[in-house]
Amino acid sequence: MSKPANPANFAPANFASDNVAGALPEVIAAVTEAASAGAMPYGNDPWTARVSARLRDVFECDLWAFPVATGTAANALALSAICPPFGTVFCHPASHANTDECGAPEFYTGGAKLTLVDGPDGKIDLAALTTAIETARPHGVHNMPPAAVTITQESEAGTVYAADHVDAIADIAKKNKLALHMDGARFANALAALDVSAADATWRRGVDVLSFGATKGGAMAAEAVIFFREELASAFGERRKRGGHLLSKMRFVSAQLEGYLGDDAWLRAARAANAGAASLAAGLTNIDGADIVRVPEANIVFAKLPLPVLDLLEADGFGFYRVGSDGTIRLVVPWSVTDADVEGLLGAVRGHIGPAV
Ligand SMILES: Cc1ncc(COP(=O)(O)O)c(C=O)c1O
Repeated sequence: MSKPANPANFAPANFASDNVAGALPEVIAAVTEAASAGAMPYGNDPWTARVSARLRDVFECDLWAFPVATGTAANALALSAICPPFGTVFCHPASHANTDECGAPEFYTGGAKLTLVDGPDGKIDLAALTTAIETARPHGVHNMPPAAVTITQESEAGTVYAADHVDAIADIAKKNKLALHMDGARFANALAALDVSAADATWRRGVDVLSFGATKGGAMAAEAVIFFREELASAFGERRKRGGHLLSKMRFVSAQLEGYLGDDAWLRAARAANAGAASLAAGLTNIDGADIVRVPEANIVFAKLPLPVLDLLEADGFGFYRVGSDGTIRLVVPWSVTDADVEGLLGAVRGHIGPAV
């Protein structure tokens, strides 16, 4: 038997996803305020207008923003705007678009092909991308022409693309006349990690379309597809409507975004999550018998622990996902993380690891 790691009133933290967290008070306040008045439906409301204006300030440019309710819809609709039904989108094998959207990108594009381009640490390798583009059409009209590249920032591996990596991908994309999409489900975490402006992380690097995530960062259900080139957005209103994401009470989605972006709540929340992940990783590194798979660059930690320890942690009630069967786990640190959450898990690992190994 392992010794109890924590006091009886201790609540084990759930690191299964950043979606386990509640919503930021700023988001709730904004939604409450939006609920107190009537407004025109389908995005013809002051909240939606204000959020577009706020995004223009944040990104320091003209842009075309379309709120939607899920990250899958944001990605799939965004890709449908930049890839024809017969085109190819290049993405990392681990990308959410490839692994976790049940074919939504293929469905919304009307049949486009996802071509997988691998690379270490969840990021597309440049040489592999060039080769994939060059070899995509050996038989001309018989093959699906390259149309777009999508990258995830923060990546699914918990890493962040450096500026020069995004530059190089954008360069390859532009040379080949491909559009560049960024899945920013955790854009705030990436931005906090890079410590650059939103503009420097996106359109100044050559990103054409961004799925701007807010749900994981502290909204209830709010994302926005942001186009940095007007021509790409021309039929997006219709695409979003046909895809079922033109909410009649859009003001509540927009209000969430307004609360999230107001007073930099989104960046404070992301910094807290990233700091929690750094503490968790540092703590695990200091425990004999525990390892991290790679240094987390934002708010996702991959660690490796003995299998009996994982069983005990699960029995305690801690939340995390096992990745494969070798003891690798994924811990996603939400914005609401507390020191007690991190210390609680580390204490439990310490308590279990001696007896269990
Ligand atoms: C990288 C990434 N992109 C997009 C999404 C889309 O999320 P959802 O459709 O669940 O809102 C997620 C959610 O897990 C994600 O991790």
